[in-house]
Amino acid sequence: MAKFAIMGHGTLGSGLAEVARVNRESIAAKVGEEITVKYILDIREFPDSPDADKFIKDFAIIENDPEVEVVVETIGGTKVAQEFTRRALMAGKHVVTANKELVATYGKDLLAIAAEKNVNYLFEASVGGAIPLLRPLFQCMAGNQIEEIAGILNGTTNYILTRMVQDGASFADALKEAQAKGYAEADPTADVEGIDAGRKICILSNLAWGKEVAPANVRMIGISALDLKDVDIAASAGYRVKLLGHAMRMAEGKVAAYVAPHLVPESSPLSRVDDVFNACLIRGNAADEVMFYGRGAGKPTASALMGDVIDAIQHREKRRDLGWSESADLFPSEELVMQWYLRGDFSAADAKGVCGEVKEAAPGAVITAPMTEVQAKAAAEKLGAEAVLRVL
Ligand code: HSE
Repeated sequence: MAKFAIMGHGTLGSGLAEVARVNRESIAAKVGEEITVKYILDIREFPDSPDADKFIKDFAIIENDPEVEVVVETIGGTKVAQEFTRRALMAGKHVVTANKELVATYGKDLLAIAAEKNVNYLFEASVGGAIPLLRPLFQCMAGNQIEEIAGILNGTTNYILTRMVQDGASFADALKEAQAKGYAEADPTADVEGIDAGRKICILSNLAWGKEVAPANVRMIGISALDLKDVDIAASAGYRVKLLGHAMRMAEGKVAAYVAPHLVPESSPLSRVDDVFNACLIRGNAADEVMFYGRGAGKPTASALMGDVIDAIQHREKRRDLGWSESADLFPSEELVMQWYLRGDFSAADAKGVCGEVKEAAPGAVITAPMTEVQAKAAAEKLGAEAVLRVL
């Protein structure tokens, strides 16, 4: 019999307690032993919960109980969550988390503590919600040189964009719905401004290339400045506007990583990923392109948490060799060469005069030939363009 503790009883923590309770027998049959929740740490009261007898308010009870083998952190943020994670690892307990902010910012140090203590620090749930994504990347695709990662990595913004485009919902109403469904961060600025997707592309890059890509060094552009007019023009020209996290292996071992809204051609499977769903395309030199798809936020993320709890129990003795080293050498995203969408009060002939070859998307809107951001912005200035967006 293995026992674990859950810290936090929000959407994910309560979802995990439910999965552990409902699937108790099938999990035991697969693992060969029962895995049960011993404690749930939360400052609030939950007298009506089926796990009401498990609630505690003092972390030291978990820290000092040798029966607790795994601690699941669903608190969020980097303050209390970091302190309790460090203390749990130092106490020789495996830690499982969905906390992308903590993993992206302090993961290197926390993984070093886990290595020193010979325990696991696992975070499958931190990227892509319920989608099995990190393990396939660092384990199943370990035989590849990873060339590129492009993903819809934030459920809230994808939900907002979908509701606005398909149902004409206002930005504010769509955001409220995403919050009510438990998709959004406590402060949804992180969703809307691309910061959450940025943390996730950092974690994916760390695992893909083994070197730390720090969120502070990654360009993050969200959807708050997006004009619905451009989303409509893009749709009529055969594109969907999606917020993408994008990372690439460049020459000399450099890594380029950024987050921004993109026009995604309808021919790409990413264009058809709607609502809270996330998807991530990974291109490796052996596998070619692989795509992962599923629910990227909310309660289904408990599936990934439970999978990590089981994995930690199954790797009690021999921890997973997981981690990344010194800072990656970053390639400036401004120097990446790609196509651009420009829209303004200009004709296709004007745009041709300034940019060379262009494709007309609509009157006053063109798709350029590949160029850098500096070139695209210079062209946009000459044309007096009101909108400048990347094209995948
Ligand atoms: N706020 C995040 C999202 C939660 O909307 O994707 C899952 O990481």
